[in-house]
Amino acid sequence: MSISSKDIIYLDNNATTRVAPEVVEEMLPFFTEYWGNPSSIYRFGNQLRMEMEKARARIAQLIGADPQEIFFTSCGTESDNSALNSALEISGRKKIVTTAAEHSAIIKQCTKFQKQGVEVVFMPVRPDGTLDFHEVEKHVDEETAVCSVMWANNETGVLFPVEEIAGFCKLKGVLFHTDAVQAVGKIPICLKRSKIDMLSLVGHKLHAPKGIGALYIRRRTRFSPTIIGGSQERGRRGGTENVASIVGFGKACELAAARMEDENTRVRNLRDKLETGIFLNIQDAHLNGARQSEKRLPNTLNVSFDFVEAEAVLLQLDQRGICASSGSACTTGSLEPSHVLKAMGISAARARCAIRFSLSTYNTEPEITRTLQALPDIIERIRKTSPGEMTPGAAPHPTARTSGKS
Ligand SMILES: Cc1ncc(COP(=O)(O)O)c(C=O)c1O
Repeated sequence: MSISSKDIIYLDNNATTRVAPEVVEEMLPFFTEYWGNPSSIYRFGNQLRMEMEKARARIAQLIGADPQEIFFTSCGTESDNSALNSALEISGRKKIVTTAAEHSAIIKQCTKFQKQGVEVVFMPVRPDGTLDFHEVEKHVDEETAVCSVMWANNETGVLFPVEEIAGFCKLKGVLFHTDAVQAVGKIPICLKRSKIDMLSLVGHKLHAPKGIGALYIRRRTRFSPTIIGGSQERGRRGGTENVASIVGFGKACELAAARMEDENTRVRNLRDKLETGIFLNIQDAHLNGARQSEKRLPNTLNVSFDFVEAEAVLLQLDQRGICASSGSACTTGSLEPSHVLKAMGISAARARCAIRFSLSTYNTEPEITRTLQALPDIIERIRKTSPGEMTPGAAPHPTARTSGKS
């Protein structure tokens, strides 16, 4: 491996994040000295239970939950899958209401359920990526096993009104689950004050390692496990616990709570600086997602640059050591436009021109300045060499320069 994090400007924090040095430090003894099994009867193993409970309490604290409501999993996908499986099984109902903008961890599982005879409603989103609450009122009914709506979209950062939806579901006697994988650690969350029944979260989006997640299950919510085996996690998730990563996840949550202010001020300002700079200096650029800063995560910006393929931009950015991602998923070599942008009614042509920038507490002002220096040149060069397909027009960003082409 030759490219290290020292060589790059990392603007892809919705994909994964740097493990915080403080997290690594807390984890290390659990590889070198305290590597026992927490289920063992002897102290060498059993002592680890206390460390796991400390981590559980730190995670619960970040989202305003009770430690007994946190169950460890291996990733966000497992948390999402387990929540929906359980809701269907426990309720005995055969209907799920979700949105067309969910992560594939929800979408693909729902598509599988559909094939098994479950009715699934994929609620549409508005052109700015937000959800109309009337959709929830229209579709969630007494037949619904679970309504699952993400807290924040991973591609656009758009926030969904999950607390209001949870309140409505409670009135209808319907379980409510939210995929909060992108929201936890970035915006304040207090589950004690909400009616949310289940919430998915994961470590690697908030500076803990990959391969550790959790599912919040509200006290007294009946639950049927997906991973069955030992009686770990009070019978709700079998499998020997990933102690070192659990410890790291706990530390990362403690750090996230302390850095929440920074995320919502400095990081938001950096994101806004990037956004304003792009629309001032690059023609025919379009924001994908709600314009109002407060309707999006503080760290996320998704922009389509007309007439350029996102992949070409990403490769050029990579040449300059800048990591970002596209609004497309690469499936067997062909770029499929993002289902999220498609759900927003964005044309396939414009979706293929979408770039997502996602920041973290480790980004600095000089990094954003360097990105803003590089980007206009990259876009101009690509446009000159390969004039792409014209993409349909949209209302310009308040600070946008337009060539009049769209
Ligand atoms: C909104 C959302 N949900 C779920 C996941 C899946 O998480 P993991 O890759 O840890 O399984 C992701 C990962 O990008 C995500 O962004």
